[in-house]
Amino acid sequence: MNIEDIRRVLIVGAGTMGQQIGLQCAMHGYQVMLYDIDLAALDTAQTQIKMYTGHLTAQGRLAQGEVEAVLARIIPTSDPQQAAEADLLSESVPEDPALKGKILAQFNDICPAHTLFTTNTSTLLPSMFAEATGRPAQFAAFHFHQFVWESNVVDIMPHPGTAAETVALLELFARRIGQIPIVLKKENYGYVFNAMLSALNRAALSLAAGGVASVEDVDRAWMVVMKTRIGPFGILDVIGLETAWDITEYWAKALHDHQLQANADFLKNYIEQNRLGLKNGQGFYTYPNPVYQQPGFLTGE
Ligand SMILES: NC(=O)c1ccc[n+]([C@@H]2O[C@H](COP(=O)([O-])OP(=O)(O)OC[C@H]3O[C@@H](n4cnc5c(N)ncnc54)[C@H](O)[C@@H]3O)[C@@H](O)[C@H]2O)c1
Repeated sequence: MNIEDIRRVLIVGAGTMGQQIGLQCAMHGYQVMLYDIDLAALDTAQTQIKMYTGHLTAQGRLAQGEVEAVLARIIPTSDPQQAAEADLLSESVPEDPALKGKILAQFNDICPAHTLFTTNTSTLLPSMFAEATGRPAQFAAFHFHQFVWESNVVDIMPHPGTAAETVALLELFARRIGQIPIVLKKENYGYVFNAMLSALNRAALSLAAGGVASVEDVDRAWMVVMKTRIGPFGILDVIGLETAWDITEYWAKALHDHQLQANADFLKNYIEQNRLGLKNGQGFYTYPNPVYQQPGFLTGE
């Protein structure tokens, strides 16, 4: 297989990440099957993707005249058979190893033999479900960052059984869709950027969950000292509180870590109030125009 043979991309899971990865591929000329088990999620995805094209044209990243063609390249479907005709699969279902393994095995049965399989897992390792793919040599983690067109670094993380050819193809493909590939030399929980971000999120959540400092003060301290436009809780809103909870809860249980469990419970409390983050307009902050972007926030006046 060579890079020209990759023309059709299958996105499995049309949530926060699947929408962005699908749109990024379509903007770079690829045919995209956007698959989700949930019809309502597919409707939301289409609305969200249209909204993203509005932002992208306003930012000058996408020409207005291209929008229709880009959208036409994205085909939403809940039919796995229709979705399966692809050369590269990018999986973005929730962070649950059993679910990811099940879905990858399901698509192994119906995708062509040449299809490359990738996972966008944030914190798991590809070796956890390499066998489930039925094609371990053609499988690696291919992990994006939000927003895919702005934070355009993609981790390529092979497991011990990934073929060198798969890594080389993914590197080329990453460049073709406007991403900067970071190829890991070995498996590592959290890749490169996420390994650093997880430590920050853990510290921020521990401060707020432990009643040491408010959400706003944690962000204020980080933003002022690091000269950033967003703090850890603003980032958690962008990630989505359900995804952040999935990850924190999984590791709290796996490591029997009491602080992580307190952090997961803290997140759960927001989720139970339907505060899911940027995706539904309310999380730690309220959108649009969250208070941390308003004058006076940094000085706390
Ligand atoms: N949110 C982030 O910033 C971010 C960044 C990088 C990687 N990730 C990873 O990407 C993955 C997805 O995260 P997300 O934030 O996009 O989640 P999300 O909850 O926004 O979306 C997940 C989607 O998967 C769908 N789904 C659930 N079960 C399914 C099934 N059996 N078949 C098909 N679709 C199914 C859901 O309907 C939903 O639309 C996770 O592994 C996460 O760790 C997330």
